[in-house]
Formats: sequence, structure tokens, C-alpha cells
Amino acid sequence: MDQIRITGGQKLNGTISISGAKNAALPLMIASLLTRETLTLANLPRLADVAMLKRILTNHGVDHSVDGKRIGQDVLTGETVHFTAREIVDNTAPYDLVARMRASFWVIGPLLARTGFAKVSLPGGCAIGTRPVDFFIDALRKLGAEIEIEAGYVIAKAPSGGLHGGRIRFPKVTVGATHVAMMAASLAHGETIIENAAREPEVEDLAACLNKMGAKITGAGTPTIIIEGVRELYGARHAVLPDRIESGTYAFAVAMTGGDVLLEGARENLIDKPIEILRKIGAEVTITNEGVRVSRNGHGLAPVHVVTEPFPGFPTDLQAQLMALVCRADGVSTIRETIFENRFMHVQELARLGADITLDGQVATVTGVPRLKGAPVMATDLRASVGLVIAALVAEGDTMVNRVYHLDRGFERLEEKLGRCGADIERIAA
Ligand code: UD1
Repeated sequence: MDQIRITGGQKLNGTISISGAKNAALPLMIASLLTRETLTLANLPRLADVAMLKRILTNHGVDHSVDGKRIGQDVLTGETVHFTAREIVDNTAPYDLVARMRASFWVIGPLLARTGFAKVSLPGGCAIGTRPVDFFIDALRKLGAEIEIEAGYVIAKAPSGGLHGGRIRFPKVTVGATHVAMMAASLAHGETIIENAAREPEVEDLAACLNKMGAKITGAGTPTIIIEGVRELYGARHAVLPDRIESGTYAFAVAMTGGDVLLEGARENLIDKPIEILRKIGAEVTITNEGVRVSRNGHGLAPVHVVTEPFPGFPTDLQAQLMALVCRADGVSTIRETIFENRFMHVQELARLGADITLDGQVATVTGVPRLKGAPVMATDLRASVGLVIAALVAEGDTMVNRVYHLDRGFERLEEKLGRCGADIERIAA
């Protein structure tokens, strides 16, 4: 298994180009199941999760081909890929595939809406909490589906006339179930209203793409989404929006090391809350035509008190990165995690670098320390592992990050992007 070695102490200076958002790319790719025609997605990030989902979709009958222009194309731009699901050849998503990537459970919506039947494995446990699928099941039932759970599979059948519109009210904001409800309702008969919908920018991006495919969706990005079902969806072309979590991650990295970096392509409106927190901590953030520029020169880091919340609140996917940053603050910070009940796996690993963190239920109290020291650490999940990278960038001596495949799931060419800005970082191939 690959490892990443980081020797701390270098400031970051230069430009980092922000990739397409993983969390938008995945539902957009899944939307290709809704039509016989070709869905072309540009700015797809080159990530292990994207490659894995391509394989999973192939299993259902989605052909994909990379745009011819790829040869000689700058590796800095994402891929343009054509996805075509002329026929659905298999409407079962087996355990071994869904267990590897939870988001592949989302195929249940398009498969059910298009073919009237879907059999999708329950995703199983996950490192950051139990993450059940009850909201998905309730939503699909509101659209008329008959659903049974049998031998670890969710088996969904549409009524003989197909899915119909319905009123869905989520008890808690859920990104995945909002995506699935929107996709399924797009091909249902009549009107669907989703209340307490997720307002995440990735939901808006999926709705924009579905509308290009012929769907009639209004209100995406607000808590109430209205979908007027259509008989058929068509091919379209859509560019994946920039990754706000990658943007926030590198912004926090610069705040940690000091220096001055332009996050090229980052959009301020996607990271309003993280920017507000960064300014409180003591980083300078300026918005330019090219993206978002982050710098910190001379100032120390101030402690902060942050609660993770659904968008537009502070994202849970930046919680580990923020925690790493405030490990070096002058004072005591608190971070309350409200989205996932077990998302503090990085605490023990940060402690190995010398961090002073105590946990009380869902609240982490972080007392800043004057220095961190390099050590071997283990990546435990995607976002937790990049928190360790941020800490390692200022830790004295070498930090070896093990289980780097977690990072590769969601960060495109991380060591290259940081290395170009002056970080002393290298991948050691197994
Ligand atoms: C998505 C993101 C993930 C992010 C999360 C919250 C992708 C691929 N993943 O995950 O990076 O951390 O949003 O912003 O986009 N829940 C239930 N029952 C359900 C569904 C969810 O109880 O049927 C709970 C979850 O356990 C969690 C909360 O609802 O506590 C929010 O989860 P959700 O927004 O659905 O997360 P994901 O879509 O899985």
C-alpha cells in the first residue's frame, strides 16, 4: 500500500487548481442511468471513487468513453466523459460493489424509475457512523414504490403504471436521499414536492444537469424542491462544479503553514462559512477573478468555536481539517459534530503528532500546542486523512501517512498540488 511522507516546516506559496467536486460527480454519473441517450460530463475529477463508480455503472449497462481531446490535454483539467445507458442490462447492485462505495446505493432511484425494479444491497456499516437508508426508503414509498428488505438487499418495485408524484418531507437534511428523490421523481407521473431538502451546491448542480436532460425541477438550493415528472429524459452536456471541500482543505492548509496561495477555480459562494472561520482564525482571504486567494503572514492562529451543519453551515467534510488547524491555535477551540455520530477517528491520530484534544460526546475540545512532531499515522477515512496531512505540514520532522487509498478516493494528485507550492511531500509506492 502506498504511503505519503511529509516533512513539516515549509510554507505554501503559488497556485493550486481546484478539481471538479467528487460529491457532484458521483450523482451526475448516476443520472446517466435515467436516459438512453448520452450524458457528457466535463471537469470530472480523476479520483479512485470516480473510477470505481464507472465500473459499477458498467455493470448496469452504462458505456463510457473518454473524450478524444484527452491525448495531449493538460493533466490539470478534468476528464470529459460520455456516459450512455442504451439499455439497463442489470438492475441489481450487488453487495461487493455497494459496500465499497456507499454512494453507489443511489442507483436505486434511477433504476427504479426507468425500469420499474431495483435490487440494491444495503451499504452496511461505515467508518463515520451507521448511516442508515431509511430516508431513501420512505421517499421512494411516497412515490408509490413497494419496498422490501430481504437478505441484505433493498428490493424496490414501482406500481404497474410507474412511479407517481408525492409529497416527501425529510425528518433530517440528507444529501443522498435528496439526490435520489429528485432523480426518481423526474421520471414519475405528476408533481413531487420535497420538503426539508438538502441545499448543498451538489444538489443544485444535479438539478441543473437533470433540467438540461429535460427534467422540470425548481427550487433546488432551497429547502423546497418541486419536480414535475416527465415521460422521458434525454442526453445533455454538463460541467461538474468546483470542489468546495477540496477548496476548503487547501485554504486550511495555507492557514496552517503560512504563505500565499491562489486556489484557482474555487468559488467564494460555495465556501462562505469556511472563509468566515478562516478569517476569524487569522488568515487573509481575498476573492479574485481567478478564484480565492488565501494567505497568512506573521499572525498567530486564533481559537474558534464551530458547529458542523448542513449547507450553508460549516461542512462536516471539513471538520477534520479544521481540527488539525486549531491544534496549533493560541488557546482553546471547540468543534461540535452534528451530522455523523462517529466522525472523530482522526483525534487519536492527531494525538500521535502531539495534539491536545479531548472528546465529550459530539464535542471535541482542542487546546492549541506550540509545536507538533512527525510520527507514523494512519488514514481512517477520506476527510480525516487529509486532516492528518495538514497537521503534518507543520509537524517537526517526518510524518508517514499510511493507508493513502483513503486520500486517493477524494483528492486528485494531492502530493503534486501541495508539492508545487513548496511542501516537502512525496508518495512512496508500495
Ligand atoms: C453526503 C456526502 C458526504 C457528506 C454528507 C453530509 C456524497 C457522496 N457524500 O453523504 O461527503 O459528509 O453528505 O454533508 O455526497 N441519514 C439517515 N437515514 C438515511 C440517510 C441519512 O439517518 O436514510 C443520516 C446520516 O446517518 C447522517 C445524516 O442523515 O447522520 C446526513 O447524511 P446524508 O446527508 O444523507 O449523507 P450522505 O448523502 O451519505
